[in-house]
Amino acid sequence: MTHTHTHPNPHIPPTQPAEFWEARYRDSERVWSGRPNPLLVREASHLPPGTALDLGCGEGADAVWLAARGWQVTGIDISHTALERAASHAAEAGVADRTTWERHELGTTFPEGTFDLVNAQFLQSPVRLDQEGILRQAATAVAEGGTLLIVMHGGWPSWRSEAPFEMEFPTLEGTLSALGLPEESWSVETMSAMRRECVSPEGVDGFREDNVWRIRRVQKPEFGSAFG
Ligand SMILES: C[S@@+](CC[C@H](N)C(=O)[O-])C[C@H]1O[C@@H](n2cnc3c(N)ncnc32)[C@H](O)[C@@H]1O
Repeated sequence: MTHTHTHPNPHIPPTQPAEFWEARYRDSERVWSGRPNPLLVREASHLPPGTALDLGCGEGADAVWLAARGWQVTGIDISHTALERAASHAAEAGVADRTTWERHELGTTFPEGTFDLVNAQFLQSPVRLDQEGILRQAATAVAEGGTLLIVMHGGWPSWRSEAPFEMEFPTLEGTLSALGLPEESWSVETMSAMRRECVSPEGVDGFREDNVWRIRRVQKPEFGSAFG
């Protein structure tokens, strides 16, 4: 299996992705915790700061964390409201000058340029999203020597007795093969599942499994360097 499909969700009317996510953010003052994702912290803390692209940045917690560590970050999201919140969180954290926010509907448009880190954390959606196509574009945006970091839920939380709607979650091997990265120019540094504890909205303890891929674009040797 190399394809990840999001099937029509019976709980959600067939809205356009932009409308769906805009409504999701407008419906509550804050959707996410404001803390950086644990697998970003685990996988990116050792990387030397450079330029970073955060795809589906939401309210900006990951981008602000990176900027506070010296990265120059471009955060991308489909929702204007999420981007406004991200910009104000960056200003509160004193890193507005190291952050840029751009609205894109990924799958339709994609930011220009190449980056030392391209980060995609939970770029998953109950409405239409060409996840694999976007991740392949993400790989093309990684500069030589740079890193592609992808984190995705591998399944529903344990406390859900049944899936709320049909959704196929990306597998470690499936996503790697969908990326189609030539072995000679990419090095897979992390490809693993992590189980983390989580609590349901009703307070039930459980866990959820996330998958992580950290893949480095190999730096081509400079011509003649082998000969001094
Ligand atoms: C599950 S949330 C993850 C947010 C954030 N990365 C995090 O880990 O907290 C998915 C994010 O992707 C954004 N998104 C969904 N479809 C998108 C698209 N086609 N283009 C750009 N952003 C999109 C949503 O607005 C949302 O902020």
